[in-house]
Amino acid sequence: MSKPDTSESPDIGMKARIAALDLIRAAQAKRSGFDEAVANPAFLALSEGERSFARAMALLLLRRLGQIDHVIDKRLKKEPNDEVIDLLRLGLVQIGYMNVPDFAAVSTTVKLAERTNATRPYKGLINAILRGVLRDRAAGRDPLTKPDATKLVPDWLFQRWKIAYGEDEARGMALVLTEEPATDLSFKTAPDMARLQEALQGEALAPSVLRSSLRGDVRDWAGYGEGVWWVQDASASTPVNLLGDLTDKTVIDLCAAPGGKTLQLLAAGATVVALDRSKNRLKRIDENLARIGYQAELHMADAEGFDDSRKFDIVLLDAPCSATGTYRRQPDVLWATRPADIAKLADVQHRLLDSAADRVANGGELVYCTCSLEREEGETQVLAFLRRHKDFELVKMTPEDAAAHGAPAASVRPEGWLRLLPHQRSGGQDGFFIARLKRSPSRQG
Ligand SMILES: C[S@@+](CC[C@H](N)C(=O)[O-])C[C@H]1O[C@@H](n2cnc3c(N)ncnc32)[C@H](O)[C@@H]1O
Repeated sequence: MSKPDTSESPDIGMKARIAALDLIRAAQAKRSGFDEAVANPAFLALSEGERSFARAMALLLLRRLGQIDHVIDKRLKKEPNDEVIDLLRLGLVQIGYMNVPDFAAVSTTVKLAERTNATRPYKGLINAILRGVLRDRAAGRDPLTKPDATKLVPDWLFQRWKIAYGEDEARGMALVLTEEPATDLSFKTAPDMARLQEALQGEALAPSVLRSSLRGDVRDWAGYGEGVWWVQDASASTPVNLLGDLTDKTVIDLCAAPGGKTLQLLAAGATVVALDRSKNRLKRIDENLARIGYQAELHMADAEGFDDSRKFDIVLLDAPCSATGTYRRQPDVLWATRPADIAKLADVQHRLLDSAADRVANGGELVYCTCSLEREEGETQVLAFLRRHKDFELVKMTPEDAAAHGAPAASVRPEGWLRLLPHQRSGGQDGFFIARLKRSPSRQG
């Protein structure tokens, strides 16, 4: 595998490495810790070069954390303190996966160890472990290549995936973590996509979804200024793509920010009401709508308490979830999520589903999706919903439906819902669960 371009300019150095350490600590401390840390004034005060080096280093480290920790564990007789472990991780990510000269990776890590009382006594140990890995590599036994799939993600999560999908699938899912994800774009129209496909070095994944192999700032890419596409993972675009043409349909998008699906609904011809309870995230929908040149009725509101008696042809519930399916781009979800988070979020989804059901017109559809790989946030949720709501039935999707909308046929389950697994597409995709629930046409109001 080629190393991503994280080459270091000589002036970036130590500050960026210290910032990377702060990022990985924040990422492991709590969910959203990484996002908060990159928005922190101390991080923003760094130069652009330092920020991007620190960010790239931290994300790579989080992507390889399981593998790196396995290498560290095997070389330690006695576990030192967390600060020492973090320094070893930082040294090894540079040695294994970044364009940093080996001597710089070792010497900067040892130098960082000199900074605090907690790490100073371990300078020799750090030096010895990093050099030991380099020696093994020189002897053709690089412990940082060839990953053991079972060690890439936290064991509790790997065990869950194994139970839910089987061992081979769980291994395939974990291995996706080692690939640098490409950027997927959703287009307003298929002709816009055809026109820009070459300039964007794109591969068509669905009638209006392109996978671009470009890297760097998307604002510099062809078509961004024109407002004809937006960034959206192929899996995230599937729930709305499955609905086809929505001309003359009314839709309420209950958890809408940052608005990828809202934009798709508008592109498909629907009249859209979009809600999100977060003021900051709602602002992002507003900005996205303005750039793409679309309009929707926006509300800052809680989807459960939103006081509105209208009934809609389609109710979209892209529910808040553990987001374990997004680990390719957000590897921090793997290390910050705890089993208890899943149970808590499943409760929220249960309540949101019940209140969403009330907003569906007779004969209309409730589309439920989450970017989680956990059954409690997908399959279990829908089965329980169908037991509680006898006036709804599952719209069974077929492998042909899936293929027509660019979803891998393997994602269609016999029950009729879609379970998109990250390794079902070459180059990977987000994990997603999608169910279409149709309300009976005859039930009274
Ligand atoms: C998975 S994201 C939605 C992604 C979005 N549908 C898209 O395609 O761009 C979930 C969103 O739900 C919002 N949210 C969480 N709980 C909510 C609630 N009770 N009511 C409304 N929005 C909520 C969060 O602020 C977050 O923006």
